Amino acid sequence: NIDVSALVDAEGGLIDRSIYTDPGIYDQEMRRIFARSWLFLAHASQFKKPGDFFTTFMGQDPVIVTMDKTKTIRAYLNSCRHRGMRLCRADAGATKMFTCTYHGWSFDLAGALQTVPNEKAYPEDFDKKQWGLIEVPRVAEYKGLLFGNWDKDAEDLEETLGDMRYYLDAMLDRDPEGTEVIGGVMKWELEGNWKLAAEQFATDWYHVNMSHASALMVMSPTGKGPKAEIVATPGRQFLSPNGHGAGFPTHPKSRFDAQAVHEHYDYDALRERLGDAAVEGPMTTGHATVFPSFSYLPVNGSIRIWHPKGPNKIEVWAWILVDKSMPEDVKDAQRLYNLRTFGPSGIFEADDGENWSEIQAVSGGFVTNSVPLNFQMGIGSEREDGVYPGQTSELYSDAAGRSFYRHWAELMNTPAWHERPAPAPAGESA
Ligand code: FES
Repeated sequence: NIDVSALVDAEGGLIDRSIYTDPGIYDQEMRRIFARSWLFLAHASQFKKPGDFFTTFMGQDPVIVTMDKTKTIRAYLNSCRHRGMRLCRADAGATKMFTCTYHGWSFDLAGALQTVPNEKAYPEDFDKKQWGLIEVPRVAEYKGLLFGNWDKDAEDLEETLGDMRYYLDAMLDRDPEGTEVIGGVMKWELEGNWKLAAEQFATDWYHVNMSHASALMVMSPTGKGPKAEIVATPGRQFLSPNGHGAGFPTHPKSRFDAQAVHEHYDYDALRERLGDAAVEGPMTTGHATVFPSFSYLPVNGSIRIWHPKGPNKIEVWAWILVDKSMPEDVKDAQRLYNLRTFGPSGIFEADDGENWSEIQAVSGGFVTNSVPLNFQMGIGSEREDGVYPGQTSELYSDAAGRSFYRHWAELMNTPAWHERPAPAPAGESA
């Protein structure tokens, strides 16, 4: 294991860029970050009846997420117990059994091995019960978002989210009926390390006016440039000891969304439901990351996961989230606005992907890798502001970035569940 203490100076705001490029660090992230963190799996609205399934990844481990006969959502390693074939080869669908296309072993919705062709040729003590699917031990939901964790002793999802729940609620709890996802899952690849994207969504409002200048000009009603109130308005950044982060302007007019969606909302009712501060803050044009790799944009309902595919590559999977009770035309307006702005070819999305890919492309050199990166904006500004839950900083700040990497380094330097010694057998004292 690599001791990353010298690579992350969260107090001083200095990050060694080898954390984006070193294959050894990446391997350790799979073991000590992704194998022990709550990872976004899917949205609950993707599962309506027993047998509905969706295939995704936890880190680089492929998983099947499905609804069993009792309507419980369960997740299994998507690899056959026989010789390791990818068990389910579809992106999503509905089934009664998962049958492996290599030799035909079949598993039911509870993960139990049901049929083995030519079973009589196996030894007498071959026990199908021992060869069921490997189940993800913890699956939990927060207001429609389903997460899984390989650590059976992990802190509960809600505790891990902590104050982040308030910021999530500004997107997930606007509608008493909750949310749903519409359309398919958009998937695209980027050259870049997964942390570049996750960190930006946690902490980086700073890039908006520069990176997105031309996009903001196109979106501007006057055609003259970014909306003055977006550029000038104050805001907040939330930082969490568990590495989550969110940033948002604090001004009720700082919405930059589809007109039909804006007109749909009854803002008085929303203020009653969520509170004034949530409507004027995290419900506006903000950004957020739930550590390590789930990010979202409340104003256009873009929820996404940054799937790591090696130190230099990300697969982005993005969904369009809408309030369930929105009329169909409003949902469609949200969908179109989402695609125009943050879909795979959205005018903002393209700017961000370009930044991450370029950073990665120039990070491989020996000299380049010996120069630290700067996360010093807003050092010392972290405080409890009395309005927004948890620690906050200014909108233009790297505070949530520093806490993202502080938590990242803590996990990287701490043995995970699979490294702990097995408990002593009963009767033996330590
Ligand atoms: Fe699945 Fe053989 S690998 S049945």
